[in-house]
Amino acid sequence: MIESSTGSKLAIVGAGSVGSTLAYAALIRGLARSVALYDINSVKVRAEALDLRQGLQFVPAAHVEGSDDVQVCAGADIIAVTAGAKQQPGQTRLDLAASTTKLMRTLMPQLVEVAPDAIIVMVTNPVDVITYVAQQLTGLSPHRLFGSGTVLDSARLRGLIASRCGIAVQNVHANIVGEHGDSEIPLWSTATAGTIPVTELIDEAERAQMAHDVVHAAYEIIDGKGATNYAIGVSACRILEAVLRDEHRVLPVSTRADGHHGIEDVCLSIPSVVGASGIERQLHVPMSEEEIAGLRASAEEIRAVARSLGF
Ligand SMILES: NC(=O)c1ccc[n+]([C@@H]2O[C@H](COP(=O)([O-])OP(=O)(O)OC[C@H]3O[C@@H](n4cnc5c(N)ncnc54)[C@H](O)[C@@H]3O)[C@@H](O)[C@H]2O)c1
Repeated sequence: MIESSTGSKLAIVGAGSVGSTLAYAALIRGLARSVALYDINSVKVRAEALDLRQGLQFVPAAHVEGSDDVQVCAGADIIAVTAGAKQQPGQTRLDLAASTTKLMRTLMPQLVEVAPDAIIVMVTNPVDVITYVAQQLTGLSPHRLFGSGTVLDSARLRGLIASRCGIAVQNVHANIVGEHGDSEIPLWSTATAGTIPVTELIDEAERAQMAHDVVHAAYEIIDGKGATNYAIGVSACRILEAVLRDEHRVLPVSTRADGHHGIEDVCLSIPSVVGASGIERQLHVPMSEEEIAGLRASAEEIRAVARSLGF
């Protein structure tokens, strides 16, 4: 096994659509000196690692390894967990959550054993429930283990606002909070495009349509090609980069709510400052009464799923 002697080591668990695209994005961005892929599917993980390795001439210097042995993750500075099962026909979201939770019971202790100092970012769905479960299973601080949350959903919303207003997406600030899923809440009251409040640029009916489109954004992609991978690949890479480069970047990641607005003992997305130690702090972003009520309802939905799984 090649161990990076300089620079950071990124381990990605699950070399499926999301994990392998995340590895590709990380290599292109020069995020880590060593990228390790771990998957129980030995043929797949070997093939993905070989394919990535054959492009190393064209990206910043890095090593790539792939293995079905969890030791490939040894000593990682940061781990992204994308391992999961695809939803089978007839299987409910709750069934999927139960089988994913079972997988995490075996996987998480192994990861902590081989990489005890790593920051761990959960991407596997249902990400808020799985982040909570993984925290309980490992006992790791919520600062060190958190979820990709609504970073992708917020990017989708920003993209819609940007094209509607003719303003670069980088100049749009808008966050989705709560669940990465149906009960998520767009924070319109603080959304801006080119510093102008979005509520002054886009009427309520159109904003509601945008919120609906974001919640349903993945379905057309999954219908068309079976999985989403590019946008989640770069979104997850953005989160890892904030940690490895100690950027103190504000990102709506899934974290254990700190009791603000009476919400606690649940993981959900809240704009948080992300840096070398993981989540440095949660921001108490101003919200309208309606947004607070929506966030509380979203927390209840996530908590109910976690409780039904015994967590
Ligand atoms: N949070 C987000 O915004 C977001 C976005 C897209 C996808 N996802 C989620 O990411 C996960 C992965 O999606 P995908 O499309 O890459 O699925 P996929 O089926 O293509 O890949 C999953 C991989 O995990 C591997 N795996 C299963 N059990 C494992 C274990 N115990 N240890 C190591 N590897 C294991 C499988 O062999 C497979 O290669 C899913 O849960 C999906 O819902 C999350």
